[in-house]
Amino acid sequence: MKKYLFVIGLLFTGRSFGQVHSAGNVTSVKVKGPQLMLTMQHAVGEITVYSPTIVRVRLDQHSLGRDFSYAVVNGPVATHVDVNQTPEAITLLTDSLKVIIARKPFHVAFFTRDGRVINEDEQGLNTSWVNSFVTTYKHLQEGERFIGLGEKVGGLDKRGNGYTNWNSDNFGYRTDKDPLYATFPFYIGIHHGLRYGIFLDNSWQTDFNFGASTDRFSSFGAHGGEMNYYFIAGARIDDIITSYTGLTGRMKLPPLWSLGYQQNRYSYYPETEVMRIAQTLREKKIPADGITLDIHYMDKYKVFTWDKQRFPDPAAMSAKLADMGFKLTVIVDPGVKREEGYGVYERGKKEGAFIKYPDSTDYIGQVWPGWCAFPDFTGVKGRAWWEKEISKYASDGVSGIWNDMNEISTWGQKMPDNVLFNNEGEPATHLQMHNVYGLNMARSSFEGFKQALNRRPFILSRSGYAGLQRYSAIWTGDNRAEEDHMLLGVRLLCNLGLAGIPFTGMDVGGFTGGPSVGLYVRWMQIGSFNPYMRNHTGVNTKSSEPWSYGEQATEIVRNYISLRYRLLPYAYSNFYEATQNGLPLMRTLALDYTDDAAIYRSAFENQFMYGRAFMVAPFTGSEGFGNIYFPAGNWFDLYTDQVIKGGQELVSPLTMSKLPVYVKAGSIVPMQSLVQHTAEKPTDTLLLHVYAGDQGSDFVYYEDDGFSYNYEKGDFFRRRITYDPVLRQIILGKVEGQYASKFKFIKLALHGFGDGKLTVGGQAAGSEFEALLTPVSKFDPQGEANAPEGHTIRTVTVRNTSQEAILKY
Ligand code: GLC
Repeated sequence: MKKYLFVIGLLFTGRSFGQVHSAGNVTSVKVKGPQLMLTMQHAVGEITVYSPTIVRVRLDQHSLGRDFSYAVVNGPVATHVDVNQTPEAITLLTDSLKVIIARKPFHVAFFTRDGRVINEDEQGLNTSWVNSFVTTYKHLQEGERFIGLGEKVGGLDKRGNGYTNWNSDNFGYRTDKDPLYATFPFYIGIHHGLRYGIFLDNSWQTDFNFGASTDRFSSFGAHGGEMNYYFIAGARIDDIITSYTGLTGRMKLPPLWSLGYQQNRYSYYPETEVMRIAQTLREKKIPADGITLDIHYMDKYKVFTWDKQRFPDPAAMSAKLADMGFKLTVIVDPGVKREEGYGVYERGKKEGAFIKYPDSTDYIGQVWPGWCAFPDFTGVKGRAWWEKEISKYASDGVSGIWNDMNEISTWGQKMPDNVLFNNEGEPATHLQMHNVYGLNMARSSFEGFKQALNRRPFILSRSGYAGLQRYSAIWTGDNRAEEDHMLLGVRLLCNLGLAGIPFTGMDVGGFTGGPSVGLYVRWMQIGSFNPYMRNHTGVNTKSSEPWSYGEQATEIVRNYISLRYRLLPYAYSNFYEATQNGLPLMRTLALDYTDDAAIYRSAFENQFMYGRAFMVAPFTGSEGFGNIYFPAGNWFDLYTDQVIKGGQELVSPLTMSKLPVYVKAGSIVPMQSLVQHTAEKPTDTLLLHVYAGDQGSDFVYYEDDGFSYNYEKGDFFRRRITYDPVLRQIILGKVEGQYASKFKFIKLALHGFGDGKLTVGGQAAGSEFEALLTPVSKFDPQGEANAPEGHTIRTVTVRNTSQEAILKY
């Protein structure tokens, strides 16, 4: 007992015992503007204020290394910080935060300006090292919840669980499998009406403990490298994600076609089969934009080749597909077959593009093509070579690159620790580079293909690290065609959204196994509300195209994909928003209803918002009734316009033909007429649905050509649309940008506004409007429907000029 107390005492004062030691007392402090340089008894550190709400903490045992990150692309912004020192502590004050760094021993605590604890080190444990493993322990706050961390299984609230980040190939993974394919070491803590984010920017294996097996602390740590974390405060979780993506960057606008329906399978070949799929989609009037080729398009799985038997003239095939409105995406794997005479390999070898053992021989591992070398995407040489090779796909008419197996995955999954990577000029081992490999492959594919195409490429990646959103969309790998996998998929996409990745999808229908008809239909309905909608299935499974499950299924699926296409103006505007503020399209209810305990219950944790208007309640394909939770506010049933009061749960009958979807009162939803693909022009009228509510909303409507980067030069059409229930008006704001909208008219469809007088004023001279008091079709995917009795949906059509227009009601 005595000995035990002695050990604790040593730890508390920061002296080392055996291999465990904490930082110890602060022995010197240097203040450099918004930065503190600290020396402790057993560590050195740097605390930097990045903005009034962001503080970075760096700690290491001996000295701080090169300040380099694959994730963070933006540095601190000029921030006023008051620094106050006493013998006990150093206090930093920003407009929003008080940070107290205790000296004896070193201990960090973050407070609101009025003194409420947001997050603090656990007294006595703080930050400590076991050999080279470093961990920071945080006091577990009463009622604290933890959400986010990217592609992580489990419930929405991760309290009581622990997770590891080590990117892994997971064929047919179980719904409790951790780690999966990608690393996003960023989570959000919630307690007492406060929220904060912690981003641990460390590429080594990292571990997070959200109070698993302990009631004392949450913790995060790494198997090497520095303790290097960003604490991010925010009034709303949205603000925290925006700050986080301010550091790690945001998505660029993807091509519009990539928002359309994507038909995949492992694998479509030969060319006649690809054309049959394309034709059938058109014949059956299933709107679609993409067809994806899996590994069988290659010559013996060799990257950057075509199997000439199966695909004799890829460019001619993609031209035929393009005529039909289809874009082609091809898979690329990092493994490059080690084969004499294979030009790709020989050029890579000559350029020194591959990762190597310490004795300078290439690391060779086995994957689809057999024994392979692997590009070093963490160095200029490797990327330059890859970017050149990938550019050839542009002349083959390819529009999208699907990066797979980039964890790195090799057969046996035992890549040695001692393989070396360039690491931007400071060579590092596999242990340090593993988790950033996928990110850098996606980056290289993006950079190379963007340049070759000279328009927006579509890039998809299976693996990744924080910052992936700058280059790529992500999907959640080899799931199973099982009910709880579909629901897990929903949570995974929401978690990825919390980690700043807006463009996300899953294998809709399931990769391994085969779904029941009910599950298939439900999954396709939910997939229609995923940012990236990809139907995919494995090599020995039943076909998964929309016509594979019988006529009724086809009809329902057609309805939902059609709805997705009619919602494209809404989705594209939301994508634009994500490029500006990093916010996801698929939004867990925790974003807007953070302090409502009901939304974390397992019965409701899968409900999500698609943009800010739609609430989707996913259920399995086999349930006859479902319990749906309606958070505060009013909700319109998408199909009937019936208004449901929030703050209650309701039992709803479930049918295969309808996915429960509700529209939040006060929402604004732009829609277009049905098209079969994004290159087809819709009619010249934009339908703008507005749903009456006590609280209004703002919607930034955004349009551009959908494929080029001209929008960066001002070639866009953007206006703020405001619904103000207090002033009883809807304002179409003045248009910014030089792009001419494809819509000549805007037809407002007003839901639940009664039948009082409507006037449109404030318009530019010469523009016209007409007020039509007729019901219009609601979102009923089965076809036209009338408004419920006593409930009117009224329309007003205005000319879509660039001037402001105000509709009063
Ligand atoms: C991996 C991918 C899967 C793909 C298969 C063949 O398992 O995750 O989507 O179909 O490889 O390339």
